[in-house]
Amino acid sequence: MSSVEVHSQQPEPTGSLIPTLPGSHYTDPAVFELEKSRIFQRHWFAAARSSDVPTPGSFRNVDVGGESVLVVRGRDGALRAFLNVCRHRGARLCVEESGSVRRSLQCPYHAWTYGLDGKLVAAPNLGSMQDVDRDEYGLIGVHLREWLGAVWVCLADEPPSFEETVQGAVTVRLGDDTTIDRWGIEDLVVGRRITYDVKANWKLIVENFMECYHCATIHPELTEVLPEFADGYAAQYYVGHGAEFAEEVTGFTVDGQGGFGALAGVDAEHDRRYYAITINPQVFLNLVPDHVIFHRMYPVAVDRTIVECDWLYAQEVVDSGADLSASVELFHRVNQQDFDACERCQPAMSSRAYANGGVLVPSEHHIGQFRDWVTAALAD
Ligand code: FES
Ligand code: FE
Repeated sequence: MSSVEVHSQQPEPTGSLIPTLPGSHYTDPAVFELEKSRIFQRHWFAAARSSDVPTPGSFRNVDVGGESVLVVRGRDGALRAFLNVCRHRGARLCVEESGSVRRSLQCPYHAWTYGLDGKLVAAPNLGSMQDVDRDEYGLIGVHLREWLGAVWVCLADEPPSFEETVQGAVTVRLGDDTTIDRWGIEDLVVGRRITYDVKANWKLIVENFMECYHCATIHPELTEVLPEFADGYAAQYYVGHGAEFAEEVTGFTVDGQGGFGALAGVDAEHDRRYYAITINPQVFLNLVPDHVIFHRMYPVAVDRTIVECDWLYAQEVVDSGADLSASVELFHRVNQQDFDACERCQPAMSSRAYANGGVLVPSEHHIGQFRDWVTAALAD
């Protein structure tokens, strides 16, 4: 692979083309297996929204790089994450995607019972628990952080710095003087969730999200609201730059009308603007004045990815019973248009025409950074 200049900002168009990853990176199950262990198990992974696990005993079960991880709220209100594997003979503790238990997690096989803090509390018919070290045979814990109202887990023994790799990614995108705290994302509530089953490799979805070269072609509603996107310029990747709403637009909605009042922390400078952020490897955020769109990707196979998308609003907007449909519809259409494009590419990734990959035009050059990030992670 040739060396590639790494850009922290949108480069000036030079007319030069740089190569993408080869087609096999999007189709080869062996590459996907390597990505599971070297990317999804090693980096911080947004597993759920904290509110998905609302009360003591609630749990959510998420596949993280091929490992089933249980996120559980304890009796003390804290969230913890564990490998979803019984320490006795390895049965899955929970097979449901989500649910709640009263005060413990009991294995359905021989009924070993674990507290919500992961400690082994009972193992039946042993006479006494003296033979079993309750601490040693507790559930295996997984690192967990909460930020932006999301639950982030990491399976690495020593996770990379959360501050640098997750929070730092946002700082770079927004610039130092525009903090994401303005949007108060941890206090927003889910107004709508749509889950997409996309028949495409997760990297096609990231790469698509990172560029706006396609906006003029496939996003008619979005370019009406954000006219600069009609130029096919990935304007959101200028550091600190938010794309401006069209003059006649009153809200980030499917027809540019309506919308809700700006979130409390969004000042005049950030009002009427749209910011898009990618946090490697599986989160996309869109920030607009009155809501936030939070995408979490769950890669399930080399050619299939589940995308869970939350539209987040101020509590009072959701409580008021306001009609969210025009607001949700805009990015729902954008998502469908984007995922259709990814599904159009996926079958061609195995063509001999794409054996050596394709090329990135100047307005897509920052995808080269992602490509280099993936390449370095796999080599490590
Ligand atoms: Fe869980 Fe035996 S495998 S109790
Ligand atoms: Fe798009």
